[in-house]
Amino acid sequence: MKRRPEPEELMEGEAQARAYAQADFTASNTLFIELLRRLVPGPLIGARVLDLGCGPADIVIRFLEAYPGATCDALDGSRPMLELARNALAACPELAARVRLLHDVIPSDRLARGHYDLVLSNSLLHHLPDPAVLWQTLRETAKPGAPVLVMDLMRPASPGWVEALVEAYAATEPEILRTDFRNSLYAAFEPAEVSAQLAAAGLDCLEVAVVSDRHLAVMGFLPA
Ligand SMILES: C[S@@+](CC[C@H](N)C(=O)[O-])C[C@H]1O[C@@H](n2cnc3c(N)ncnc32)[C@H](O)[C@@H]1O
Repeated sequence: MKRRPEPEELMEGEAQARAYAQADFTASNTLFIELLRRLVPGPLIGARVLDLGCGPADIVIRFLEAYPGATCDALDGSRPMLELARNALAACPELAARVRLLHDVIPSDRLARGHYDLVLSNSLLHHLPDPAVLWQTLRETAKPGAPVLVMDLMRPASPGWVEALVEAYAATEPEILRTDFRNSLYAAFEPAEVSAQLAAAGLDCLEVAVVSDRHLAVMGFLPA
């Protein structure tokens, strides 16, 4: 099935951002942290971490709970999303002290180069009209040899499969969220497309794995 890019790259609609923040992503966000624990079992004491496209910061919060020695720069291009992230972090001030929220859009020339010990991203890749932007940003911002974990939806083979996933995972969600999920599935990449993106970016050292019935993950260590 042909890819259909997201209607809007940034999630700047207030209702859209609120519906996303209220949705229950426990299963996929728990999976993200489990994959990260396999990649980076250590405590990451003193590590500086970058989360690209952080949205309402659920992954950021789970990450900081799992790695109490790390700090995190959480970046998003949407002000409403960052406002929701700020609200979520306000409920856990001991974690909030270890986060910096950055309003920025990748590609960005404001991010420190070769600075981060770990770069994360969940569900950003399919939003990008040009996915090379994510791989370039990873390379530029992470330290050589740093671990990276990128998880995203993967595009189903047919419209029927898209609808089956929407029914399986969003049957009782508000229509705005069902539409978002459907758009995201159409905009997502297939594993082979992601492998080709990585090869073009000189990052074929990273592994592409199918990690659920609707997610793929890119993980590994950048070239030293
Ligand atoms: C589907 S949400 C994922 C949020 C979060 N990572 C999560 O897992 O819940 C994608 C986010 O990426 C942001 N985004 C899209 N394109 C971006 C870009 N070029 N630079 C920064 N943020 C971007 C959107 O505004 C949105 O908040």
